[in-house]
Formats: sequence, structure tokens, C-alpha cells
Amino acid sequence: MEKIKKLIGKNVYLGPVPKKNISKLVKWMNDLDVAMYTCQATRKHTIETSKKFQEECLNDMSIHYYGIFTNDGNLIGGLDLREIDSINRTASLGIIIGEKEYWDKGYGTESTKLLLDYGFNILNLNNIMLEVFDFNPRAIRVYEKCGFKIIGKRRKSKFFNGKYYDEIFMDILAKEFNNLKLKK
Ligand SMILES: CC(C)(COP(=O)(O)OP(=O)(O)OC[C@H]1O[C@@H](n2cnc3c(N)ncnc32)[C@H](O)[C@@H]1OP(=O)(O)O)[C@@H](O)C(=O)NCCC(=O)NCCS
Repeated sequence: MEKIKKLIGKNVYLGPVPKKNISKLVKWMNDLDVAMYTCQATRKHTIETSKKFQEECLNDMSIHYYGIFTNDGNLIGGLDLREIDSINRTASLGIIIGEKEYWDKGYGTESTKLLLDYGFNILNLNNIMLEVFDFNPRAIRVYEKCGFKIIGKRRKSKFFNGKYYDEIFMDILAKEFNNLKLKK
């Protein structure tokens, strides 16, 4: 099948998720090793809910969801810009690499930079923010490598496995992002 590449990096590209791959999204969201780091662990995920989400994304201009593919076309994760506010030029970012054997190989950092480039230079955003649990130092490291800064935290707002954790808020401005592949 032809690969549809929207944003092309060195080791990954971002593009729409083909219908035949929807079961992968469901698998990731039901894998607690992955979902525990997101707000999806407590939700129900089936083929139907995933199909519905994909359809909503098509009709909703406030969400841009893309699959993360290795160069050989293997879908390993997904990421999105959501709550896009075109008046104030703001959005929120989320990412998962659902295939765990691909963690710690640089794919998350490269994909996040590609999406930031798209957000700032194609969608004309000015501020992109995200939330991350304090028990996820890998993700925090990725976001710092991309230029995000910690702007605050909500204390003891995540109750998980018998313990409270903080939610950390991070953001980045267009002028702080210096990986301007698209602009070049
Ligand atoms: C978080 C995630 C997107 C990161 O993607 P990735 O491809 O694994 O990350 P990268 O390989 O690009 O970078 C990982 C970095 O974290 C570092 N790291 C890994 N484990 C770490 C730890 N326990 N503490 C501190 N840093 C850590 C790595 O060394 C690397 O940094 P470096 O390049 O300076 O050495 C991915 O692991 C994932 O999807 N995890 C599950 C879902 C999730 O957490 N989503 C984010 C929710 S906010």
C-alpha cells in the first residue's frame, strides 16, 4: 500500500492512520504499560471507540492526529495537537509510542519536533502546552529536548496505584522553537 507522508523526518514520518491499522491504536490504549502514562488508562477502548475518534478527528479542525511511522512504514505510535484555538493561537500536544520496543531510540523526540514544526509554521500557533505526570521522567526529558519549559504543576492531582502524584505543565512558544525544517 502507498505510504502517505505528511511530515518527513530522518527516521520517522507522520501521516494519517490507515483504517487497517486501527486495531494497533486499540492495542496500545489497552496496554497499561503504555496507557498508565496518559489519561487513557481509565477509559474503555475498542475498535468502535477508536474508529469514532478517527472520524471525529476528520471533522474537527481543533484536533490534528497523526500516526508515527518508521521509514519502512511500520506504525509505532501516534501524536496530536488538540484544543487548537486559532484566535489565541494555542494548542495542547499529546504523544505515545505504542510499540514499547521502540522506546528510547529517539523516535519520540523526532516526532514531537516534527509536530511542533507543523504546529508553529503551518497551523500558525504561538503557544503549545502539555501535561505530564511526574512519574514519567522519560517524557519530561523528551519535551525538554524539544524546547518545552516547566511552567507549573498541580500537586497530588493524579491518584494512581495507591499514591498521589503531581501533574506537570510545560509549554513552548513559536520563537523558542529552533528546529525549523518546514520554514527552511
Ligand atoms: C514518552 C515517549 C513518547 C518518549 O519517546 P521515546 O522515543 O521513548 O523517547 P526518546 O528516545 O526520543 O528520548 C528518551 C529520552 O529520555 C531519557 N530517559 C529514558 N528513561 C529515562 C528515565 N527513567 N529518566 C530520565 N530520562 C530517561 C533517554 O535517555 C532519552 O534522553 P537522551 O536522548 O538525552 O538520552 C515514549 O516513551 C512513550 O510513548 N511512552 C509511553 C506513553 C507516554 O509516556 N506518553 C507521554 C505522556 S505525557
